[in-house]
Amino acid sequence: MAQGTVTEKIIERHLVEGELKPGTPIAIKIDQTLTQDATGTMAYLEFEAIGIDRVRTELSVSYVDHNLLQTDFRNADDHRFLQSIAARFGIHFSRPGNGICHQVHLERFARPGKTLLGSDSHTPTAGGCGMLAIGAGGMDVALAMAGQPFHLRMPEVVGIHLTGKLSPWVSAKDVILELLRRLSVKGGIGKVMEYFGPGVKTLSVPDRAAIANLGTELGATSTVFPSDEITLKFLKAQKREDQWEELISEPDAQYSEVIEIDLSTLEPMAACPSSPDNVVKVKELEGKPVAQVIVGSCANSSFRDIQVVSKALHGKFIHQDVSFEINPGSRQVLEMAEKEGLLRDLIHAGARIHQSGCLGCIGMGQAPPTDAISLRTFTRNFPGRSGTKPDQVYLVSPETAVASAIHGKITDPRSLGEAPELVEPDEYIINDSGIIPPPEDGSKVEIVRGPNIKPLPQFDPLPEDLELEVILKVGDNITTDHIMPAGSKILPLRSNCPAISEYCYSAVDADFAKRAKTGGPWVVIGGENYGQGSSREHAALAPRYLGVRAKLVKGFARIHKANLINFGIIPLVLKDPNDYDHLEQGMKLSIKGIRSALLEGKDEIEILLDNGKTVQAVMELSDRDRDILVKGGLLNWVKEKVQSST
Ligand code: F3S
Repeated sequence: MAQGTVTEKIIERHLVEGELKPGTPIAIKIDQTLTQDATGTMAYLEFEAIGIDRVRTELSVSYVDHNLLQTDFRNADDHRFLQSIAARFGIHFSRPGNGICHQVHLERFARPGKTLLGSDSHTPTAGGCGMLAIGAGGMDVALAMAGQPFHLRMPEVVGIHLTGKLSPWVSAKDVILELLRRLSVKGGIGKVMEYFGPGVKTLSVPDRAAIANLGTELGATSTVFPSDEITLKFLKAQKREDQWEELISEPDAQYSEVIEIDLSTLEPMAACPSSPDNVVKVKELEGKPVAQVIVGSCANSSFRDIQVVSKALHGKFIHQDVSFEINPGSRQVLEMAEKEGLLRDLIHAGARIHQSGCLGCIGMGQAPPTDAISLRTFTRNFPGRSGTKPDQVYLVSPETAVASAIHGKITDPRSLGEAPELVEPDEYIINDSGIIPPPEDGSKVEIVRGPNIKPLPQFDPLPEDLELEVILKVGDNITTDHIMPAGSKILPLRSNCPAISEYCYSAVDADFAKRAKTGGPWVVIGGENYGQGSSREHAALAPRYLGVRAKLVKGFARIHKANLINFGIIPLVLKDPNDYDHLEQGMKLSIKGIRSALLEGKDEIEILLDNGKTVQAVMELSDRDRDILVKGGLLNWVKEKVQSST
């Protein structure tokens, strides 16, 4: 069954269950996994609870990048826990300061033709290197580490046909911002975006990775680039050419739809507050005063990005009203910048250089001033994510960022004159001392648990009937940042479910946790694209801990829906979206026979409201999803599976 697209070729090699028919359930073997600290502590507690002695993947890596601030014992303890549990179970450990998971993974581990499952939504970044990389919840990653296949619906494969070449001062970020402008944050749901055509050859692997990274903001399952001679050049420069293989689409490959982009017609673009798809041309925003500019995040912090910024700053200074900050993506980027003399121009011009990691992207420091404009080369500009509630975050390319930092106002970088010549290294500095491989036998390693590491909560199986009360009603495009905010106060609680749950929905309802503790079980009502954003499984774990048993919405974002199932929360979709208007906070909802309905494979269920009306809800679930929900969550399900096989 030869398939034409790169995506299908990779899936076919890894297919364990199902067939390559879009929309149908499939299961694929996972070669590699990654976690970061915010999701990793929980993922490893889950892996430990499964009861397997060592990971069964080809490679698993635990990164520490999200919260590097050590303002008390909690992060420091978590870092030690992550290091010891990695050694115990056969996982590589990337030390704090070694870099952002996606940047480091691209440099040191991404392999064409392989599959990667990561407990971070921007895992598709590795698709820039010709692999199928998918973001998922920590529980799914724990299962993949246990050798279980990953279950998903066979995605449609959309072809993005690139022609032409980017103009000076226009870069990869502008390509994906243009796509976000055209397709919106919902445009990629259920799809893999696969790039092909002559324009692909004009993009380096770091450029491709930047595009693949932001594909997540389209809601896409993944983004895939071919593996060609450009990929080989990158792997050679990383001293990994032995890991290259050619992987390109067939000339007659069938895409579900083809989107044309002529790179030569693109201009610098910006995503305005407060959504990555709120995109306009930079020239429409010119002149707005800027208070802060940050170059960093897994979208744009490669050596190429630091290089263009440094060269543009040569002989110039940052505007006196701007705080200009750099988060290099990895230690390799930082070392390369030092070797090539790029740091000199950055420091001389007035840049504030931070350690390699996520930092400001997840609200870990670098919060912008109130109501002032912050230009960031980041992935997301959801309200308040920066750490400042009334923020004004614009997402831009490194080129637009540096031009604006020089002038103190939003500036089209093409006004800077001749674009600097960028050099793609033939050799990167290879220094893997920041990545600790696991010992051959980890069985004697002691796992170090600080007081902030709390055991996982146990959840009950699903009863036959559910009598629920609506605890909260929210609108469209609710993000996981709304459900379970991050930030420097909350993130250190990631392995302490009772403590982190106190902040559940605090971004939309300050009293949510307090109210939840007065009763239950509860149901939350939501609009379209509910749960978009990160792969944060705490956005499912914390509501379940507080007694939420179902969510009834107009539509779910993929990863969040999977996380809800994993924690035993039933994802229900309103058959008639107009019924949303009939549902109010405080209402009582009765769902009779939900357990039997799931077991019998029913797709719809009737919900009786306390005003006598009924609404129909759709349950688009695989047999496995149903089984997991009935058992009360994935951990109960997998434990039963492992126990029955021993
Ligand atoms: Fe980190 Fe921000 Fe990416 S939090 S992994 S840099 S989206």
